[in-house]
Amino acid sequence: MFKTNTKIFEERREIFLKKLNGKAAIISSSSLVNHHADCEYPFRQDSNFWYLTGFDEPDSIALFLSNKPKGERYILFVAPKDIISEVWHGFRWGVEGAEREFKADKAHSISDFKRLLPVYISDSEDIVYSQNKHSKFEKIVLEIFSKQIEARSKEGKEEINIESPEIYLNEMRLIKSDFEISRMREATQISAEAHELVRESISLKKNERQIQGLIEGFFLEKGARGPAYNSIVASGDNACILHYTLNNSDLNKGDLLLVDAGCSLMDYYNGDITRTIPIGGKFSKEQKIIYEIVLEAQKNAIKHSVKGSNTTNVHNVALRILVDGLKEIGLLRGDTDGIIENGSYKHLYMHRTGHWLGLDVHDVGAYRMGEYDVPLQNGMILTVEPGIYISDRIPVPEGQPSIDEKWKGIGIRIEDDILVKEKEPEILSIAALKEISDLEY
Ligand code: GLY
Ligand code: MN
Ligand code: MN
Repeated sequence: MFKTNTKIFEERREIFLKKLNGKAAIISSSSLVNHHADCEYPFRQDSNFWYLTGFDEPDSIALFLSNKPKGERYILFVAPKDIISEVWHGFRWGVEGAEREFKADKAHSISDFKRLLPVYISDSEDIVYSQNKHSKFEKIVLEIFSKQIEARSKEGKEEINIESPEIYLNEMRLIKSDFEISRMREATQISAEAHELVRESISLKKNERQIQGLIEGFFLEKGARGPAYNSIVASGDNACILHYTLNNSDLNKGDLLLVDAGCSLMDYYNGDITRTIPIGGKFSKEQKIIYEIVLEAQKNAIKHSVKGSNTTNVHNVALRILVDGLKEIGLLRGDTDGIIENGSYKHLYMHRTGHWLGLDVHDVGAYRMGEYDVPLQNGMILTVEPGIYISDRIPVPEGQPSIDEKWKGIGIRIEDDILVKEKEPEILSIAALKEISDLEY
């Protein structure tokens, strides 16, 4: 069973416990999810649970009692050792392992959770718990909580509430520590190398599926857990379907190939990179024009991914270049501000320019706080991924030019993973080449 640096998690728990300021937090792990019959999807730990525990087993609970003295504040409920179960499903750390290796102040069998939770939280007031994550545990937690509310109202005590742990954890996870940055460097480097492998071997490949196999095989070879999300390997017009994952079309020499793929490391840090390359080694005139617009938009948006900027600004920089470029070639018409304001570019560019990246691919953290955009700070990691997708799936908005056939079937996105720094952003995925001269052969 996978285990990593315990100290990192101890430090995170200390910060989290301080933030809880007297409250009790109940953080549940993920469960195994059925794929079909009695076969399961590969296990994926809940990111918040992982972030605080480093414990990689399903159906476990971490209880944080911030009103208790040191040595009584971190309780784990885990699957107990069971030889027969372990023969079928693999090693587990058990109750003793949870204390010895994962530094729980006290660990119990998960079967004692229902009995012990009311005892542990009897003198806590508000509790911190994320709903809609683990239905079995949620039933227990809510039942115990409502009993507490009832008892308190009989005693004339003031109301208690359930708060979301996201209030505390999202803020922590948004700024990556030095340790996390080093893990993100590894995840993005492996992901970038996989894209390079595609670029180098594209001339030998016949079907999208072979590219998927190449990339995902490389992730495993490098010791990653696997793909961070369903790899998108989309040739020709398939690239205009944003979440295309069928990956089963033959490759045609005159088409482009859009690959959006990144690995997830054993400790769940993720890469998320997109490259679009000419399958036959040469861009057509139209493909090249669109590629140049997207690349210019992306490079400029990256330049603005620095401390003090914000994701709206990054998006707007990219959007303006895309709109101006599309106007120049007759695919949009009108005043740039007007087009942006009324969204009449959205049949060609229908998504935002990026998102936070970390333990989740679309990582946690606010983009806006009420009226204000969250300013970019050192240690934040975001993707910058503008694109243009030309098809006739979305009707051309009124007042905009109809699309000449020569443009149709061109779908281009370029996505890099960016570490925010003081002056110049660090492009973590820089090893994946993206200049036209690099992509043509
Ligand atoms: N691969 C998912 C995304 O780019 O957001
Ligand atoms: Mn992305
Ligand atoms: Mn992506």
